[in-house]
Amino acid sequence: MAVELGIDIETLRSEIRKTYARVSDEPESGFIFPTGRAWALDLDYPRELLDRVPDRSAASFAGVANPFALGALEPGEAVLDLGAGAGTDSLVAAQMVAPGGRVTGIDMTPEMVARAQASALEAGLDNVEFLSGDAESLPFEDERFDVVISNGVIDLVPDKDAVFSEVFRVLRPGGRIQIADVTIQSPVSEEGRRKIDLWTG
Ligand SMILES: C[S@@+](CC[C@H](N)C(=O)[O-])C[C@H]1O[C@@H](n2cnc3c(N)ncnc32)[C@H](O)[C@@H]1O
Repeated sequence: MAVELGIDIETLRSEIRKTYARVSDEPESGFIFPTGRAWALDLDYPRELLDRVPDRSAASFAGVANPFALGALEPGEAVLDLGAGAGTDSLVAAQMVAPGGRVTGIDMTPEMVARAQASALEAGLDNVEFLSGDAESLPFEDERFDVVISNGVIDLVPDKDAVFSEVFRVLRPGGRIQIADVTIQSPVSEEGRRKIDLWTG
């Protein structure tokens, strides 16, 4: 489908999946953005919680900042991690919300979802689940979550209004969003918007 962004949305989605399948399966191969456990430590993730995140997930961490810097999550909270990737943030969140809380991570790249699921098993965290799905159309009922976290994802999504509308639909009244993302201060040129590499990075 061609949209006013000047790019084909299915091509864009496919290129994003390809990039993040590589972040999942070949984390050492080098990207234009920082990745890995050392990067999460640089961002001040709590070391004792990060220690429980298996290497297979931490190595593919590709967040842009630390959503927990906006506040710790509380025991008992229901959390959605939008674009969970290999699951580092979800696995950290699962420890914060225990006992009684639950984390759901959703991502559109199957390799990432598989990696996150394997890590939850390895870490013995049974209050976290990972699903395949699209941030523009969430498979959850209204008002299901107390908190939505997300890290480095919404910048990749063409229809940002759709994402925020879905986030507010699935949050309970008075719920919180703790989002780390890339923002720009001036409009991107039409030519820039057509460059898929600028989107996927
Ligand atoms: C930069 S990575 C960040 C992953 C994870 N949040 C982290 O911090 O490691 C971006 C992730 O967003 C996912 N993603 C991009 N667009 C998406 C969409 N429309 N719906 C769901 N996931 C999406 C990608 O598959 C990728 O795993």
